[in-house]
Amino acid sequence: MNESNTPTKNSGNSLRHQPFGKISKWHETPDGLSGTSGFAYFKLRVFETGIVRIQASRFENFESNPYSVIVEPNPTAFEIQDHGDILVLHTSVLRVQINLSAFSLAFFDHQGKLLNQDDSFGIAWIGTEVTAYKKLQHKEKFIGLGEKTGNLNRFGNAYTHWNTDYFAYGVGDDPLYLSIPFYLGIHDQGHYGIYLNNTHKSLFNFGASNNRFASFSAEDGDMDYYFFHYPSLSEIITSYTWLTGRMQMPPMWALGFQQCRYSYYPESEVHAVAQAFRDKNMPADVIYLDIHHMEAYKVFTFDGEKFPNPKAMIARLKEKGFKVVVIMDPGIKTDVSYPPYQEGFEQNLFVNYPDGQIYEAQVWPGWCAFPDFTKATTRGWWEEKMAFYAEAGVDGYWTDMNEPASWGQCTPNLLEFDFDGEKASHRKARNVYGMQMARSTQAGALLQAPEKRPFVLTRSGFAGIQRYAAAWTGDNVASEEHMLAGIRLVTSLGMSGVAFAGYDVGGFAGEANKGLFARWMSTAAFSPLYRAHSMINTKDAEPWAFGEEVEEISRNYLNFRYSLLPTIYSAFYQSTQNGLPLAASLAIHYPQDEFVYQTAFQNEYLFCNAFLVAPVESFKEITKVYLPTGDWYYLYTDQKYGGGQVIYQECPLNYLPVFVPAGRIFAQQSLTQHTGLAHDGLLSLHVYQGKKGSTYTHYEDGGEGFDYLKGSFFAREITYNPELGTLTLKQSTGELPSHYPSIRIYFHGFDGLNLKLNGLTQELSTHSFAFLKKLTAFDPLPDQVHPYFQIDSLPYLQFDHTPEELVLTGLN
Ligand code: GLC
Repeated sequence: MNESNTPTKNSGNSLRHQPFGKISKWHETPDGLSGTSGFAYFKLRVFETGIVRIQASRFENFESNPYSVIVEPNPTAFEIQDHGDILVLHTSVLRVQINLSAFSLAFFDHQGKLLNQDDSFGIAWIGTEVTAYKKLQHKEKFIGLGEKTGNLNRFGNAYTHWNTDYFAYGVGDDPLYLSIPFYLGIHDQGHYGIYLNNTHKSLFNFGASNNRFASFSAEDGDMDYYFFHYPSLSEIITSYTWLTGRMQMPPMWALGFQQCRYSYYPESEVHAVAQAFRDKNMPADVIYLDIHHMEAYKVFTFDGEKFPNPKAMIARLKEKGFKVVVIMDPGIKTDVSYPPYQEGFEQNLFVNYPDGQIYEAQVWPGWCAFPDFTKATTRGWWEEKMAFYAEAGVDGYWTDMNEPASWGQCTPNLLEFDFDGEKASHRKARNVYGMQMARSTQAGALLQAPEKRPFVLTRSGFAGIQRYAAAWTGDNVASEEHMLAGIRLVTSLGMSGVAFAGYDVGGFAGEANKGLFARWMSTAAFSPLYRAHSMINTKDAEPWAFGEEVEEISRNYLNFRYSLLPTIYSAFYQSTQNGLPLAASLAIHYPQDEFVYQTAFQNEYLFCNAFLVAPVESFKEITKVYLPTGDWYYLYTDQKYGGGQVIYQECPLNYLPVFVPAGRIFAQQSLTQHTGLAHDGLLSLHVYQGKKGSTYTHYEDGGEGFDYLKGSFFAREITYNPELGTLTLKQSTGELPSHYPSIRIYFHGFDGLNLKLNGLTQELSTHSFAFLKKLTAFDPLPDQVHPYFQIDSLPYLQFDHTPEELVLTGLN
């Protein structure tokens, strides 16, 4: 661009593309540099060795976005070299080249490989809309971006961030309920992450309708993005969650099975469903109360006829080992005799029009006002009001309709939000509304029960929502393609910071057939959130409602889920520390492997780092599975496969294709019907022979409360080292004794073991072992009999689980 084209403040036609322009002044700052073109201003700030924040504004005062990023820059060594027209900013892992003649940026790794480069359009405006244009790199792939439908690789598509209530969305529809403008780019030269810290409606274009650039734009506000580069994608996700926060340790019960329905009522039905789980020996921990528990859908009420004594009802459910989660919708019925409305009106707690009049729209209760959750006093009020539920004994909260949704789905943009004192219109506030409701609900749960870990499940959210709530993917549909799409939504949320996520098992809208429901129950046993839900006026959709075969398959996978709780709980704890997904797309671990992006394989993921799950439609009897590099064991038989190949795997309805990576370890415990019941005290570790070893960090605590933060936990690293032929259980840390006085180790894939424990020779035992029970042969026709797999003569060793270091040798 030549200088005469450089726009200035007076250049007039703001309806045209207006580039940032040539930098006329710049100076070094304590954490980077800043400068101006006269037309616009920029700042580059080093947040960490691998994180640089780029801000560009048409105003000298940069815009604030207070809700997502929770850290200040870490003091980091960097250097700026001035080459005249080009400046180069170096950290130990990243090099940013700044072209001053047109303010365009290029990012390199420490070896000088180009990671990402602005198109010559750089950062530019059209009116208030600001865009960053990036050259498409050779075979560039784009993954992440939170709750977005479509393929794993988002290349060739564009996505909008604008939180939207979308009943029965299609598997390619956009936007949905929750927005996270963070993605990972991968190409021949390397990979990087970009987080756009702007809450206005934004558009990400990954080479849709053009062959020149990928771009991201926001309708208004500043260009404000964080560029990430570290040697692995996992490290990038860890740094993104350093920036925007991580989930807090949920209560153990939230990892169990959760049963929902729109709606269970009256009270007798809630009891009947809860009792059926117990009678049928199907483990479950949670039952939900959807909107019919309220009087005329008014939040902070119980329907006096359907639920005459909620406290007694909840107490009875608790005796059966059920936790109760209630739905909370933000809409407050504008009824002058309804105290929450009166209070909100009197205390100015609602979202208003610019003239001060309360904004009203229709949702379930009819005309409603909407608490302004971006206002501290509103949040404080909501938190106090939650005493209503705490007194009744409610355990968890489900924040729904918080996009916010209203009939007509077109909230006016002129509405005013407090935005914590900064004031903003609906354009800037919408995308954070749901997150602020979840925040307030979590704070309310803590205020009402300070000794308990809050559980909040939200539909809407924005970058950082993981700090406050788990997320589910809204109103999905009972179809095979939705089952698979849900997995991509959850793995995409996982790589965007939201590790605790799930989908409605069975499909919310419509009705699943037998096969689909069975497969969905099996697949979701490997989902961080394991929750079934279904729509009003549809057939019953509990795991026993589809006949005995589906009931037995569901029970098998529910049992397997519950047996894996030590592994899942340990993985949750790890995720609170490193922000990594519990359900990780293979692209996170094998980003340069073209196969993982193929349509046939893009749904595969690693659960808790121990299970490669290959989701498959229920009607398929055989499926192609891609096994990446390394060796793999078919979970149910220990059959070993070499990696880097596509295999044909039989997938009868009672066996979901699951593989264990060679060299990995996972833990099981005895079965209980809910997480509140004691297991038998035996921890079973499964170790899989391989060329590469691994470490499983076993973690236990009280499962509830906050004592674990004060040292009341039991943790130990368990490392399999194939080169040394050892399995080392390191000295434990934490003040709690383990809940498992005995430990048993199963050795998968090992031959002729000669083991010593702390130097003493050990006798191995063997038995045949099955992860899943045999199904009843309901129909004697030969082709109706379900296959049954077990591992014959599986060697194991059992010993006392003492806290000192325990070393097993001879695993060669
Ligand atoms: C919304 C929710 C759904 C809930 C229904 C009634 O559609 O997404 O899960 O059951 O409202 O509250």
